[in-house]
Amino acid sequence: MKMTGNTILLTGGSNGIGRALAQRFYDLGNDVIVTGRRHDALDETLVGRERMRAVLLDIDDQEAIRDFVRHLASTGSKINVLINNAGIMPLEDMSGPRDLADAKAVIETNLLGPIRLIDKLLPQLLSQLDSVIVNVTSGLAFQPTSRAPTYSATKAALHSYTVSLRIALKGKVEVIELVPPGVQTDLTPGQASNPNYQPLDEFADEVMRLFAQVPTPAEILVERVKPLRFAERDGTVEQVLAMLNPG
Ligand SMILES: NC(=O)c1ccc[n+]([C@@H]2O[C@H](COP(=O)([O-])OP(=O)(O)OC[C@H]3O[C@@H](n4cnc5c(N)ncnc54)[C@H](OP(=O)(O)O)[C@@H]3O)[C@@H](O)[C@H]2O)c1
Repeated sequence: MKMTGNTILLTGGSNGIGRALAQRFYDLGNDVIVTGRRHDALDETLVGRERMRAVLLDIDDQEAIRDFVRHLASTGSKINVLINNAGIMPLEDMSGPRDLADAKAVIETNLLGPIRLIDKLLPQLLSQLDSVIVNVTSGLAFQPTSRAPTYSATKAALHSYTVSLRIALKGKVEVIELVPPGVQTDLTPGQASNPNYQPLDEFADEVMRLFAQVPTPAEILVERVKPLRFAERDGTVEQVLAMLNPG
């Protein structure tokens, strides 16, 4: 993936990892469009970056995705990079019968959202040179936490989908998986100040160094996520599951 001169569409740019990456890509000399559901939070991402654009888009809304991509096409958009970053992580107690609304919502946002956006944007990506799709999964795609079982399952599914996409689009669109470890953001309550999670800026800087490698690795793996990513290979699944699921 080239590091400058792209036109990047990044979902979930109003907070956390999405904001940190959007700002870094912009500062390297890329056009960046960020999306999210909160106007004020998107505006904060744009502060001091005059050419960055923000668009309200709920990734759960199929019609809105269709209209948004049509609008992009009608304005002659030159988007060549899609970063599917938007996500939610509701904690779920699966020890008894429960309301499955959270389970449904997380599948909608984390799995169907990227699938729908890729589907609608693909003609535009195929018409550009140097096109890239980045899907943000999680270390929990590889070893789950029972505190967020559906979240972990959506990320495992998105990992699998990304592998298929890479095969299907070989030679046409580069497909990259970004696999974060626990990072200090607002994804779950208290996480932003939890010292066991990687500081956001440190994570984002490490990610940018990995993106800049030539060629860009198919999987962007910061050091902290490798124990989860490679637990099967390393024969450490039991220890890693115990660490992720204490008590
Ligand atoms: N932080 C971690 O520890 C960690 C670890 C592994 C993977 N990840 C993944 O990294 C990605 C970013 O997470 P984060 O940690 O940066 O969380 P975050 O700070 O909570 O940010 C989540 C972003 O997703 C957006 N979003 C959520 N639902 C949306 C929807 N329906 N439509 C549009 N945008 C939506 C939010 O924007 P609005 O609220 O404005 O809509 C926000 O910008 C997620 O995919 C997450 O699963 C994070």
